[in-house]
Amino acid sequence: MQSTFTYRQGTMTEVDRLKELGIISYNQFSEILTKENWATLNKFLNNADTWIQLVNKAHCFICEDNEEIIGMAFLMHSGNPTNIYQADWSYIRMVGVNPKYRGKGIARRLTIMCIDLARDSNEKVIALHTSEFMDAARHIYENLGFIKVREIDPIYGKKYWLYKLDV
Ligand SMILES: CC(C)(COP(=O)(O)OP(=O)(O)OC[C@H]1O[C@@H](n2cnc3c(N)ncnc32)[C@H](O)[C@@H]1OP(=O)(O)O)[C@@H](O)C(=O)NCCC(=O)NCCS
Repeated sequence: MQSTFTYRQGTMTEVDRLKELGIISYNQFSEILTKENWATLNKFLNNADTWIQLVNKAHCFICEDNEEIIGMAFLMHSGNPTNIYQADWSYIRMVGVNPKYRGKGIARRLTIMCIDLARDSNEKVIALHTSEFMDAARHIYENLGFIKVREIDPIYGKKYWLYKLDV
């Protein structure tokens, strides 16, 4: 059967499947990070609360192939400031695609869906943070017009930058 990808909003009933996708899609970094830093990231990915909080607070976009969730991205609306993000900025979190489905434009499309939602919600800025070890992600974001704002404090022992796009 020919596979057709479907893009839609993810819901709280799918939180376990989102967690599984997070674990699968970020697993490649187990070889890049030190044992200790990988343990920290892995713990974050395996914590059900990580995903419950995201689905609760953010708009979750997913991509499905025959009902399997193969891609995800979350848009956090403004009003959710962190030590990285200003209160008046929206921002993208946890973009991930199952390795079996990489290079098909899924992350790019999910990122565009986040940008479109930010624009339609009258956000002024959409931001994100990404790292020196996330080459494919940086390529996608820079290609879509995200501009590097500044380097932020290292996370998982790696260099990270804050990016933003005016919408
Ligand atoms: C980043 C990620 C979501 C991309 O998913 P994807 O669906 O394969 O991405 P797309 O197919 O939309 O686009 C991939 C782009 O990156 C490019 N790319 C792939 N590997 C690359 C690399 N090592 N260096 C630079 N660019 C790369 C591809 O050529 C493609 O660009 P193009 O469309 O201009 O040819 C996926 O690799 C992933 O889940 N990575 C682990 C988690 C992660 O890093 N998340 C981002 C956190 S900020």
